[in-house]
Amino acid sequence: MTLELAVILPTYNERGNLRALVDRLAAALGTTAWEAVVVDDNSPDGTADEARAIAAADPRVRVIERIGRRGLASAAIEGMCSTAAPVVAVMDADHQHDPALLPGMLAAITSGDCDLAYASRFCEGASTAAWNRPDRERASGFANALARKVTGVTLSDPMSGYFMMRTSDLRATAPKLSGVGFKILLDILATAETPMKVKEFPLEFAARAEGESKLDRTVVFEFLVGLYDKWLGRIIPTRFALFGTIGALGVIVHMAVLALLLQVAHVPFLAGQTLAAIVAMTFNFVLNNSLTYADKRLKGFAPLLRGWAKFALTCSVGLLANIGVAAFLVRSGVHQYPAALAGIVMAAVWNYALSSRFVWGKY
Ligand code: GDD
Ligand code: MN
Repeated sequence: MTLELAVILPTYNERGNLRALVDRLAAALGTTAWEAVVVDDNSPDGTADEARAIAAADPRVRVIERIGRRGLASAAIEGMCSTAAPVVAVMDADHQHDPALLPGMLAAITSGDCDLAYASRFCEGASTAAWNRPDRERASGFANALARKVTGVTLSDPMSGYFMMRTSDLRATAPKLSGVGFKILLDILATAETPMKVKEFPLEFAARAEGESKLDRTVVFEFLVGLYDKWLGRIIPTRFALFGTIGALGVIVHMAVLALLLQVAHVPFLAGQTLAAIVAMTFNFVLNNSLTYADKRLKGFAPLLRGWAKFALTCSVGLLANIGVAAFLVRSGVHQYPAALAGIVMAAVWNYALSSRFVWGKY
């Protein structure tokens, strides 16, 4: 019997859900030759141990355990690349995705009806009633709309985590996928060289069986960053855009603090300006550390203090560059405001270039 289908199950803390899910897969797939690949990121609840216990008694189940790694999309990619089956599916391991859709999806792919079959929560005939999370439903709707705008993908639910495709197609796009966050389906569709023919399967999206969702603020932030990257990333690099936006917010913080110090505390201008600059710079440092450089985040009191001091040093050099450039332009006859703006841009580029190496780099 040759292998027909691999079902990839990315897991993080899904110990209590696995055994029943494998039973449901077996029931749904009947005589199809299938395997399930559990890709677990060293879950603290021992999901990988449970998966190995199931696999020991059922050779259709395999386990990939990743150490020191996190992420649904990258887990799905690694699982899909690990199989010899000609067709792969990815689904959540928490019973929100009904395995009963698998045979229909497989038939649609093997018959050549489509290149990619996926389960939609939001198309005709689908339902999210049992989900019981109106907040998440709204958020998903918003994310889907945004994703459609930016990527041109027109599905009703490009954020779905339940889909199936030919493994060869996946391997062809895999090197170009970002592997960040949850948006694996969207990423595959937006990256595919030739547009894929997609078929939607209405899904009755269930409530999670056990445990809790791993979609947190970090995943949402990564999603937005990813969209930006696709949209303008080639013109203005994502990190610089973040750095610049945070810098602009810093200007507002500076002005607010300065106004407070001058109007309310009646401190002299020089003291007020200095204090406001320190507050704004600290604000920028904290935000850049947790957002722009989330992947290189400094942690712990001493590293943070050292990072802050280096950032302050970087910014003071940037300030000199700012004043130097602006003064030079004014002297050369440029109007004061454009000159000031050029100085600010100059300082932003300088601060960015320097702090990326000096504060968050390997130096
Ligand atoms: N290996 C691994 N690593 N698996 C993960 C990770 C991770 O870091 N994070 C989540 N998973 C697994 C979960 O264990 C689960 O099996 C599946 O990925 C989906 O995660 P959930 O935490 O259940 O996501 P959700 O239900 O909140 O999100 C749903 O909607 C998203 C879009 O709105 C899912 O259907 C997602 O697939 C979908 O992208
Ligand atoms: Mn879920």
